[in-house]
Amino acid sequence: MTKVNDPAHSHSRTLRSGTRIPAIGFGTFGSDHIGHDDMAAAVATAIRAGYRLIDCAAVYGNEREIGAAIARTLPELGLARGELYLMSKVWNDAHAPAAVQRSVRQSITDLGCKYLDACFIHWPFRNYHAPFARPDDRNPDSHPFILEEFLETWAALETMHDAGLVRQLGMSNMTVAKLERILPRIRIRPELIEMELHPAFQQPGLFEYARERGIQPVGYAPLGSPSRPERDTTPEDVNVLEMPVIRAIAAERGVHPATVALLWAITRGQIPIPLSTNPAHIQANLAVLDMEPLSAAEMHRIAAADANCRLIKGQVFLWPGASDWRVLWDQTDS
Ligand SMILES: NC(=O)c1ccc[n+]([C@@H]2O[C@H](COP(=O)([O-])OP(=O)(O)OC[C@H]3O[C@@H](n4cnc5c(N)ncnc54)[C@H](OP(=O)(O)O)[C@@H]3O)[C@@H](O)[C@H]2O)c1
Repeated sequence: MTKVNDPAHSHSRTLRSGTRIPAIGFGTFGSDHIGHDDMAAAVATAIRAGYRLIDCAAVYGNEREIGAAIARTLPELGLARGELYLMSKVWNDAHAPAAVQRSVRQSITDLGCKYLDACFIHWPFRNYHAPFARPDDRNPDSHPFILEEFLETWAALETMHDAGLVRQLGMSNMTVAKLERILPRIRIRPELIEMELHPAFQQPGLFEYARERGIQPVGYAPLGSPSRPERDTTPEDVNVLEMPVIRAIAAERGVHPATVALLWAITRGQIPIPLSTNPAHIQANLAVLDMEPLSAAEMHRIAAADANCRLIKGQVFLWPGASDWRVLWDQTDS
């Protein structure tokens, strides 16, 4: 087995097309508690620390500030655009073909980057909500997943690839059931899939399904998103950094639980994209690439502790009459 801390393998992974991608990235979802300038300053700190993959999205509202920070930081470090891997996402209100193309071009303009290394369709449906929506708010235009609608959106993203504006295509917040219907119908298959992945929510089925098809998983909320907004929390949610197995392995290794969560991600093979505005955390999270990966025994212990606890449930994307967020994930018909 290849050790992830082999010099040849530790800092990047190879996608199906042969493209190299950093093995860890930096998240930028400031939500309602990190201002755009603060998020951009954190991106600059991350690039100075050595991160080369930045996970952005149109809906985060901060791509212009992040673009300005990148424009300032690259020359300071003597880096070229091509040394960064920049990802963005098309939001749910921009799924119509012309809107997909506008969204991609706007993200490129805002990030000041000529092309996106990867672009994702953020969620597989057109349902969106007003900022600061409450979990029980329902947009009357929202409706269940419609395959033909998604295929139309995807085809528009493919044209952005054809035009050289997006190098790799990605899907996000998918299920095996949806992929089974989508993959046979599309011209360009995704090379990346962004999904919630942390020790309390390991999604082994979707993870393996993607990997078997040459689709690289990118793990969001790798630390269990401890500062996500109150409206996205429920009493059943597991605190990843407090999980007994994570705390035990952290104590045995003399490291912080966050380090164990990220080592788990790197050892397993997904690309984690932790967010931080704390320079010490930014540095510590990147440093996992140079650490000894978790042993098979440690990986087994963490696999056994999977709580199947989805934290980013997506309630605000439900349609009128729907009350159980599991329907978004094809787990119930109601
Ligand atoms: N595709 C999607 O639908 C989707 C959904 C959600 C998220 N994402 C992406 O995934 C990224 C990461 O997810 P996330 O931001 O929700 O959560 P996360 O990365 O799991 O957690 C971020 C939180 O962890 C804290 N933290 C970071 N490093 C730490 C360390 N070493 N020790 C202790 N605490 C630490 C941060 O606080 P400090 O600032 O104090 O360090 C921050 O509050 C997002 O930013 C976004 O880019 C994508």
